[in-house]
Amino acid sequence: MSLKGKSAIITGANKNLGQKTALAFAEEGCDLLVHCHNPKFKKDLDSFAEELKKDYGIKAVSFQGDLTQEAPNKEMFELASSKLGKIDIAINNVGMVLRKPLAEVSLDEYNAMFDINTKAAFLFLREAANKLAENGSVIMLTTSLLAAYTDGYSIYQAAKSGVEFMCKALSKETKKQISFNCISPGPMDTPFLYGQETKERVEFFKTQASAGRLTKVEDIIPIIKFLAKDGHWITGQNIFCSNGFTAPK
Ligand SMILES: NC(=O)c1ccc[n+]([C@@H]2O[C@H](COP(=O)([O-])OP(=O)(O)OC[C@H]3O[C@@H](n4cnc5c(N)ncnc54)[C@H](OP(=O)(O)O)[C@@H]3O)[C@@H](O)[C@H]2O)c1
Repeated sequence: MSLKGKSAIITGANKNLGQKTALAFAEEGCDLLVHCHNPKFKKDLDSFAEELKKDYGIKAVSFQGDLTQEAPNKEMFELASSKLGKIDIAINNVGMVLRKPLAEVSLDEYNAMFDINTKAAFLFLREAANKLAENGSVIMLTTSLLAAYTDGYSIYQAAKSGVEFMCKALSKETKKQISFNCISPGPMDTPFLYGQETKERVEFFKTQASAGRLTKVEDIIPIIKFLAKDGHWITGQNIFCSNGFTAPK
């Protein structure tokens, strides 16, 4: 199956995994809505969308918004439908990580973690369930920490694990044969990881992968593509892509 002529929404597409995924999809001829959160990146995102149109001959549109709120989720899906004609694929990179003992987590931190990792996922999934075309694919980024028995990441693990169960239920509830899956990378070489980790722990993480290194965004993109293309029979699953860092039983 090809991505040519398909259309996709990719959130967090101004940097890191989201941006590289957008490039990889554009290279294959997929029309795109690219999203960013912070308004200060909207101009750069507009230029990115223009470059994609010029370089790959695709339709591309940009959207900035806080996806913990209901209205921007609705606007984003409506914009994609109107500008791209239809939505076949929806990929959600929205996330926030916190490494802290649970006894020290403030209520504000807890609320932010659940707003960004869980509520935004719910709002995105609800729009996707209602607006995607028949046989569409929804891919939600979660974390390989969901299979880890560890300290420090309780609120991140708790908030991301809800996404897995929303996908499972949706995979049975869909009347349009939309597949709903999570992808869980291992510790990935982006600033998202380094903000919460010590150098020593990053070195340890490397030893836990059979390749002796961190996950790169380039390791994850082929798996996202597979789910969006030929892997459509997979649904309601969480695919752990961590090179041996963790895996569920
Ligand atoms: N890096 C890792 O070690 C790792 C490992 C496993 C899984 N993951 C998951 O992979 C995904 C992508 O991570 P990444 O490493 O590529 O880092 P990233 O680029 O920082 O991805 C997180 C994205 O969430 C966006 N976001 C935060 N709050 C938002 C809000 N209220 N509304 C809309 N968007 C919001 C961020 O935008 P702003 O920064 O502009 O707020 C950012 O674009 C995340 O879901 C993460 O949980 C990452």
